Amino acid sequence: MAGMLRLGVRQSGLTMSAEIKVKRVSSRKRSRDGLRSHLTPIRKIPSSSGQQCPDSSTAEMEHPRAMDQSMHAKFSEYCSDTEDLFGDYDSIVGDSSFLAKLDREEQNMRRHDIDHATSNRCPVVLQHENPDFTSLKSSTDKCLKKSRDYSMTDSNLEGSQLAFQQDALQTAEWICCPDGDKTSKPMRRPESVSTEDGNERHNAGVVPKARKSMSDHLKRAMLVNAAAPSSVSRTAVQKEAVVTEISVAMQAMESVSMETMDLEPFFGLPTKVKALICNLKGIKDLYEWQKNCLNLDSVQQRKNLIYSLPTSGGKTLVAEILILKELLCRKRDALFILPYISLVQEKVRGLASFGLELDFMVEEYAGNKGRFPPVKRRGKRSLYIATIEKAHSLVNSLIEANRLDNVGLVVVDELHMLGDGSRGAIIEMTLAKVLYISKSTQIIGMSATLGNVQDLQRFLSADNYTNDFRPVELKEYVKLKDSIYEVDPKEEECFRFSRLLNFKYSSAMQKIDQDHIVALVTEVIPSQSCLVFCPTKKNCENVAGMICKYLKQDFIQHKQAEKAVLLGDLRSSGNGSLCPVLKKMVPYGLAYHHSGLTSEERKLVEEAYSAGVLCLLTCTSTLAAGINLPARRVILRSPYMAVDFLKRSQYKQMVGRAGRAGIDTHGESILILQDKDKVMVKKLVSAPIEICKSNLMHDNGKGILSLILSIIGLNITNSLEQVRDFMDGTLLSVQEKQVCLERSLWEVTQECVELLKVKGLITVSTEPHDGTLHVTKLGRATYKGSVDLTYCDVLYRDLSKGLESLMLDSFLHLVYLVTPYDMVSQCKPDWMIYFRQFTMLSAAEQKMCAAVGVSESFVARKAAGQNMKKNVDPVVVSRLYLALVLLSALKETDLWSVADRFLLSRGFIQTLLSSSSAFCSCVLHFTEELEEFWPFNALLTELTRRLTYCVKAELIPLMEVAGVMEGRAKQLYNAGYKTLAHLANADPNVLVKTVENLFKKQANQIVASAKMLLNEKADALQEEVDDLLMMPLDLPSL
Ligand SMILES: Nc1ncnc2c1ncn2[C@@H]1O[C@H](COP(=O)(O)OP(=O)(O)OP(=O)(O)O)[C@@H](O)[C@H]1O
Ligand SMILES: [Mg+2]
Repeated sequence: MAGMLRLGVRQSGLTMSAEIKVKRVSSRKRSRDGLRSHLTPIRKIPSSSGQQCPDSSTAEMEHPRAMDQSMHAKFSEYCSDTEDLFGDYDSIVGDSSFLAKLDREEQNMRRHDIDHATSNRCPVVLQHENPDFTSLKSSTDKCLKKSRDYSMTDSNLEGSQLAFQQDALQTAEWICCPDGDKTSKPMRRPESVSTEDGNERHNAGVVPKARKSMSDHLKRAMLVNAAAPSSVSRTAVQKEAVVTEISVAMQAMESVSMETMDLEPFFGLPTKVKALICNLKGIKDLYEWQKNCLNLDSVQQRKNLIYSLPTSGGKTLVAEILILKELLCRKRDALFILPYISLVQEKVRGLASFGLELDFMVEEYAGNKGRFPPVKRRGKRSLYIATIEKAHSLVNSLIEANRLDNVGLVVVDELHMLGDGSRGAIIEMTLAKVLYISKSTQIIGMSATLGNVQDLQRFLSADNYTNDFRPVELKEYVKLKDSIYEVDPKEEECFRFSRLLNFKYSSAMQKIDQDHIVALVTEVIPSQSCLVFCPTKKNCENVAGMICKYLKQDFIQHKQAEKAVLLGDLRSSGNGSLCPVLKKMVPYGLAYHHSGLTSEERKLVEEAYSAGVLCLLTCTSTLAAGINLPARRVILRSPYMAVDFLKRSQYKQMVGRAGRAGIDTHGESILILQDKDKVMVKKLVSAPIEICKSNLMHDNGKGILSLILSIIGLNITNSLEQVRDFMDGTLLSVQEKQVCLERSLWEVTQECVELLKVKGLITVSTEPHDGTLHVTKLGRATYKGSVDLTYCDVLYRDLSKGLESLMLDSFLHLVYLVTPYDMVSQCKPDWMIYFRQFTMLSAAEQKMCAAVGVSESFVARKAAGQNMKKNVDPVVVSRLYLALVLLSALKETDLWSVADRFLLSRGFIQTLLSSSSAFCSCVLHFTEELEEFWPFNALLTELTRRLTYCVKAELIPLMEVAGVMEGRAKQLYNAGYKTLAHLANADPNVLVKTVENLFKKQANQIVASAKMLLNEKADALQEEVDDLLMMPLDLPSL
């Protein structure tokens, strides 16, 4: 009974439950339970009456982590102390001041309402529980009516307890579960926000009528209580307690009514979300298409959805709103899949503040970040933001832990990447597993370039929404000789003459700039921005250098001070080294942007371009994918990327960058073409987008093989027939006729199963007529480590051989073992450098090299230009070369000097480090499944960390914060922010003043991300503590 009471109060508001409990328990009880609550998780503490705390698991699920520590302690105390909740309670009969006080409070509140109603500020009240705003009002009204009509019949309860409990129960039930979900969900304390003048303001948005009904309930509850027999004498202390209780009840009442009455619709979300979008993203209103899309029936009914719009159409915001709905209203986790680590980090930074304000976790799954399975958060929902690969591992781990159902929504950005080689295969595997296992998980995919949406719709059983909205009009042109033509696919010729290009070139200049790039760019820069897409990295640097050569000195004067700051930042990001090419270009407002730059340099260049300090970037196609860097004019230097003719989708992505919303009236793209390419370019600008094909068969069916291995390993399928069923739900099945040309999918499937058997990755039960499929230990290690099937046996062999004589007095041997096999083809050894580096190795290191198959004499002869007859594995030789690069990077922690030593780009070395750290963590998971490799566990854990943060150890805690790179970490460290806790508690205003060139928005994001990370770590530890101290329910007793 007392338990029920607690439940009722708790449901009607967290604040109320915590406060009332503190006031009402005797101090003796409080301290006793206070102690216990620190040591024993709430959900396992039995009440003193021997019962467990009512609905404790649900309660625990819903909110304790949302509270701060003290709140948590209070809640524990309340929950664990039951029998004397009202034990010292005195009747209020005869004390009319209580009701007078209540009335006074009510009047104050009404005044407060009116003030707020007339205020034109955005109400910012959290309304957690309303998936559908419009239905909220009626259900709230209904619920209030219902609670008023409730007759108090349970004579076992004390009057006030009964009345209040019944009202609260009813109210909470109707408010919290409008969709019929009977799970207990906590209400929150009304949020307070900082006003512009810096004061804290409580949020309003309340409806007097509803509040009155709540106050009626309270009054009635108290009166009934007053009439109830009381065996306790009235002492001054007790009166005091009652007065306090009333005021607490008033607060609670206010809390309930405020939260209930957040009636402004924002796609079923709390109004606060709208205010946050405005404050944090600067978006005041949604585009019309965004509203339409969010109001689609399919969205309301949580059907799977694919939506496609041109680049810069604002697709992300719709996805984010749907994610917030999932987290806040449906109380389920969400997974957001993005293609690149940098995009994941940017999203984590951007959404961390939302997480802090709206009380959910933002967890990064990129690079070496992310735990498998994720930490079980009993009190909070999580948003996992993941790269394609990490998302797959995350889904696998959730399936294994039987927790995939907790993920209510999966969003895939750039869905067309399904057609992108092995990465596309990974997206397909992930989605096919989600579709097969968790029917209640909604899948949403978005893209700017989808040619065959029907196939994808069939694969995902999804609805489709398309719109050709662009915030800024795009005009497409091509340039042929000295004429500019407007692209018009409706015209027979496809191109309509627009104008002659106006330029005065000397003959020397004409020779150097045959395509008139200088003339094209100087029409817009420096006052407006320009992107020049080039076919190769080298070409990016050459074109930018050439443009600079012909720019007038006036360009140097433009934003001179800011450019000097940028150069300073670039130099400090390189530990004092500055790229000589950028050094020449930046003063003119130009830079190049490609994978040869370090990620720090790219980020600085991007930021400077966004801020208008740089007016032109020459770049490769990588800039077109997902990075939000629009330009007034986009120039395509040629219709090729490296040696391949552009695909329609690539073209679309690039030209789509033209036009900056809110700045330009229109954007324009100009493709420079030669006569010989005219016909192909006509096709390029007018043909439909290429179709996106399943990639499970890509690269000799690597994808389908590893898919089948993992579904058997994860126990999703145990027989050949079940494997067939599963395969029927793939995109490959939808496109069987287009992709499986020689054999049917069923035949391919059978072949794959046979191949997996041959490779020793799966076995079939030997029982007669059984046919059950099992994975072997090697098979399990392979899918657990996400190891490419092509390399799994080589890896096993290398590791086994390594164990026989593991050299541990240097990193070289371990580094060699985790050098990714697939990076080998990207770098050819320079034999002279190889030899020089080899001779500098210690005797032990040289011995180890010889043991893996590369002797000094071999390298020496190669360096001397001799042809070798000796049978040496070229993959091993190249892999060892890369390992030497890595070793050098680990020793020096300076990419620049390593780049100089090996004559490689610093960007390549950074990529090598991050791929190796990713592969190292794969190898770690691989070895964890194979007992014989136990010594690797500790070694590889540390190695992963070192490869990830190839910096001085003191900077690592700061660099764990999303997007804080080495340069920034150093600045922060030198400014006194030495730990994560320093950053999480930093004042952004102070940061801006003490850290050079840090903008307020960046400071806010750094602090928010640090806070989020700290919360996440503390929370994970707390979960561990809870688990550790959990009292087993089946503890043997006498
Ligand atoms: N309603 C809006 N009002 C103003 N700006 C908006 C709105 N919605 C989105 N934006 C802004 O538009 C820009 C582009 O949005 P977004 O990155 O979502 O485009 P996208 O459709 O995903 O494009 P891409 O296909 O290139 O990834 C962003 O800066 C975003 O903040
Ligand atoms: Mg996008």
